[in-house]
Amino acid sequence: MLLVALIPLLSGGWLSGPQSTFDTKGPVAETQLEVFYVTLWVTMIIFAIVGSVLAYTTWKFKARNAADEHAEPPPQGHGNPLVELSLIVASILALVVIAVPTLKAIWYTYDVPEDQMDMAYEVNAIGYQWWFKFEYPTEMTPQPFGGEAPLVSANELVIPAGRPVRVNLRTVDVIHSFWVPKLAGKVDMIPNRGNHLWLQADEPGYFWGQCAEFCGESHAVMRFRVIALAEDDFANWLENQKLPARTVEAAEDAEILAAMPDYGTFEVNQAGWSEEFDADPMGNWEAWQEIPAEGEEDPALIAAGRRAFVENRCAGCHMVRGHEGMGNIGPDLTRIGSRTTVAAGLLENTPENLYRWITEPDRVKPGNYMYHSRIVTPKGMVTMPGYTTRDPATGERAPSPGDIEVTPEEGHALVAYLKSLK
Ligand code: CUA
Repeated sequence: MLLVALIPLLSGGWLSGPQSTFDTKGPVAETQLEVFYVTLWVTMIIFAIVGSVLAYTTWKFKARNAADEHAEPPPQGHGNPLVELSLIVASILALVVIAVPTLKAIWYTYDVPEDQMDMAYEVNAIGYQWWFKFEYPTEMTPQPFGGEAPLVSANELVIPAGRPVRVNLRTVDVIHSFWVPKLAGKVDMIPNRGNHLWLQADEPGYFWGQCAEFCGESHAVMRFRVIALAEDDFANWLENQKLPARTVEAAEDAEILAAMPDYGTFEVNQAGWSEEFDADPMGNWEAWQEIPAEGEEDPALIAAGRRAFVENRCAGCHMVRGHEGMGNIGPDLTRIGSRTTVAAGLLENTPENLYRWITEPDRVKPGNYMYHSRIVTPKGMVTMPGYTTRDPATGERAPSPGDIEVTPEEGHALVAYLKSLK
């Protein structure tokens, strides 16, 4: 009982972490939490009653002396109709008390309420091993080979606050599950099946999401973010997203000025998130959107990165609308510089983490397809000559013919290029 009484208290403290379902920020998660509390209280009351009766009878009928221990058991009675009937009725009542809010919640959370349907915003979330593609089906953008297609982003879903958002859930490979603990969840993304959920962030905010269905080696690090913006900010964000990639021009013979930073070495599974970011996620998100002032970037380095992006075949898998990137297999990178995370919500998008991710992807996210360059085609899985390879025993890089190895200099330039894509 003490523990239960503590829950509301704790929810103001350590139960308010970024993935806490006790710290709800929207009506869907709120409804789900209410069902949890109803079930919890009913079962706790049953626990208290059964526990007290057990404690009382144990105390009342216990052997108090040696004679008691060998005494005949008292006359056994069973089948008292009044007791049995009341227990049956009480159980039914307890089930009804749980069932009514549960069923109401199932109906409510299933889809956007009828009377709010006309103000609902629609997005598509598509699961990949191990990242999320987000599509805005009502926002069209011109495509490299002509025609238009919906605006695409990855791993950070930006939505309007104070409005229901209907999320259509799809997957291209295995079963994933879409979960934003503070807003809504979880609903599975199942191959060849159209699922959906809806959610609403009451206020602008920055929310953590997580794949909640085991989907292979890097399931645990298949994360994402949801950023809810006020209506005007959201409209501005959309407008900027729809533009082609930002281009930083450099003179043909311009010299690279920015010296190669020393990023040191990285451990496997090294954390990539800072407390400074968590202290003010929205402030940080806004700062990430700002275009660097003149002189803050090295145009020659960015141009070198853009070349490295093509030479290392990045462009074959990733889209950078308006630049050379035309692939559809990996995340769209047209605005990667304005996202707060890389590697599907795993690492804060700092130059250091970006460098680590593109030079040693296998040590950040085991099994990821950027490293293995495995491609799912209609005829099955095709293994391409890899990105980089590493001897599992020694940890040494062992490039085989045809392998891509991003050199430190290329990594440095690629970071500058990707960071410029705001
Ligand atoms: Cu996707 Cu677990």
